[in-house]
Amino acid sequence: MGLTRTHYCGAVRASDAGRTVRLVGWVQRRRDHGGLIFVDLRDREGIVQVVFGPEIGLAAHEVARRLRGEFVIAVAGEVVHRPAGSENAALPTGQVEVRGSAAEILNEARTPVFPIEEDSSVAEDLRLTYRYLDLRRPPLQRNLRVRHRAYQVVRRYLDAQGFIEVETPVLTKSTPEGARDYLVPSRVNPGTFFALPQSPQIFKQLLMVAGYDRYYQIVKCFRDEDLRADRQPEFTQIDVEMAFVDREDVLAAMEGLVVELFREVKGVTLATPFRRLRYADALARFGLDKPDLRFGMELTDATDLFRGSGFKPFAEAVAAGGQVKGIRVQGFAEPLTRKVMDELTEFVKAFGAKGLTSFKMGADGLTSPAGKFLTPDGLMAIAEWFGVERGDALLLLADAPAVVAEALGRLRVKVGHERGLVEGDRLEVCWITDFPLLEWNPEERRYQAMHHPFTAPLEEDLPLFDSAPEKIRAKAYDLVINGQEVAGGSIRIHRREIQQKMFDALGFSPEQARERFGFLLEALEFGTPPHGGIAFGFDRLIMLLTGAASIRDVIAFPKTQRAVDLMAGAPAPVDPQQLKELHLKPDLD
Ligand code: AMO
Repeated sequence: MGLTRTHYCGAVRASDAGRTVRLVGWVQRRRDHGGLIFVDLRDREGIVQVVFGPEIGLAAHEVARRLRGEFVIAVAGEVVHRPAGSENAALPTGQVEVRGSAAEILNEARTPVFPIEEDSSVAEDLRLTYRYLDLRRPPLQRNLRVRHRAYQVVRRYLDAQGFIEVETPVLTKSTPEGARDYLVPSRVNPGTFFALPQSPQIFKQLLMVAGYDRYYQIVKCFRDEDLRADRQPEFTQIDVEMAFVDREDVLAAMEGLVVELFREVKGVTLATPFRRLRYADALARFGLDKPDLRFGMELTDATDLFRGSGFKPFAEAVAAGGQVKGIRVQGFAEPLTRKVMDELTEFVKAFGAKGLTSFKMGADGLTSPAGKFLTPDGLMAIAEWFGVERGDALLLLADAPAVVAEALGRLRVKVGHERGLVEGDRLEVCWITDFPLLEWNPEERRYQAMHHPFTAPLEEDLPLFDSAPEKIRAKAYDLVINGQEVAGGSIRIHRREIQQKMFDALGFSPEQARERFGFLLEALEFGTPPHGGIAFGFDRLIMLLTGAASIRDVIAFPKTQRAVDLMAGAPAPVDPQQLKELHLKPDLD
């Protein structure tokens, strides 16, 4: 019969009626109705019904009797309208069927380990072990097609804007993104290691030094970090760097890219300029630097209400320099049972909070387990401050500002989602700006770069290097969509003396700085243009474009939460001889 198809299965239409088509694909389902055998034949474009019968083709009918799920076959036959009443409106091919006059089994198949269906209730570990079967499922096929479309849009857009695609090394030296490195031992240079790049950060800056002006790369990055639903040990960035720019130039160029992506791939037009929030305001209002702006329920500061109040845990936290903040959850008084409250309390404790206090607005005013420690006026003041209405609940916590922000910020997101405040297809896009340049690492008792050591400070904050380094704001920005950080970048330090101030603040000796980033530091002395850039988490963008809940659903061959490739069985022990060649000895104790 040959392998050449005339149509994809899923592309056969009523307008093809009367034509003879040749199809190849996988048997999705076979129904034997005695005389007639119906086969749903599947390929990447969809499913079409093929009907076999002795009158249509005797030999083909014989072949059809032997078909099982996932057999690979070739079929030829005439496209006909389905008998009236048997059309399937749910399928684009549902008006027609193919009368199978010739058929050939190209390959048989073992019974698949799980059904190849739209929705899978199968354990993810099994799906990942047989990823090639999982990848046959329509949702994954759709996600990877969206991903493909997104690559094309990015390349076309950035090319049109004058960006040049350059590849940077995968075998390289440690890069400064702050996660653990994946290391590769060098056989030819015993005892030395390459590090896989956590990002191409240094190389893209060197390309600016080298005069390429506008660079991009769709690039794999490797980070050995704790994994979550939106993290993988190897993930993909759209990495961008631009010379002779300040922050506004980068943000404007990247808004164009994001708008193009959502328009071309999802058919959604995002309004520009994107909303902006300063880091400090994001933290104050939403508790997180990646706020989900699809709903309100902002954090309200109630510190002054509890200063010196009878409710000891709050009064003491305030006296110790802490804060009291809360959220008002509309209509939550009744659903907030003891059990729910216990669960929410456990939730905030995981973020370091000592506890959670609730207030409920009923017919006779505000009540709370803390009520007996507060005066009626005190309760009234709280109700007024939060604008509480009947049926509402308040959730409050008191702690150090950083703990309040994180615990309450995350609680806001959890409760907001569970209360159904998030509309299905709403997109809220926002730049977060003015991040702190440095953060204090209490364990190591030193400052560390919040982003990376090449991030430029705001000019007006430069004098703070000598007085209050923690107050210096950076020319750094993140792009947040629906509470997810999808990109991060900054304007870089391009002057040697400011770089030196930064290294001093980080406590790097000149030798340490030279050892880690010597080649970049040297390059900065050879005529470096002002420059800056950004990197998008490409996988996260695809999650937003597809609506996938897990990053693993937008990557063809992902790793598990434990950083394992279950299908390939990697990582795996290696032959002792290989270790010997690499001059490595395992020490597994
Ligand atoms: P950053 O570390 O913020 O910046 O990374 C950029 C974006 O990459 C995505 N991302 C990840 N996605 C999946 N799995 C991971 N483990 C993971 N880690 C990060 C996030 C993040 O916003 N060199 C700088 C960029 C720059 O300054 O130009 C950098 O890598 O969406």
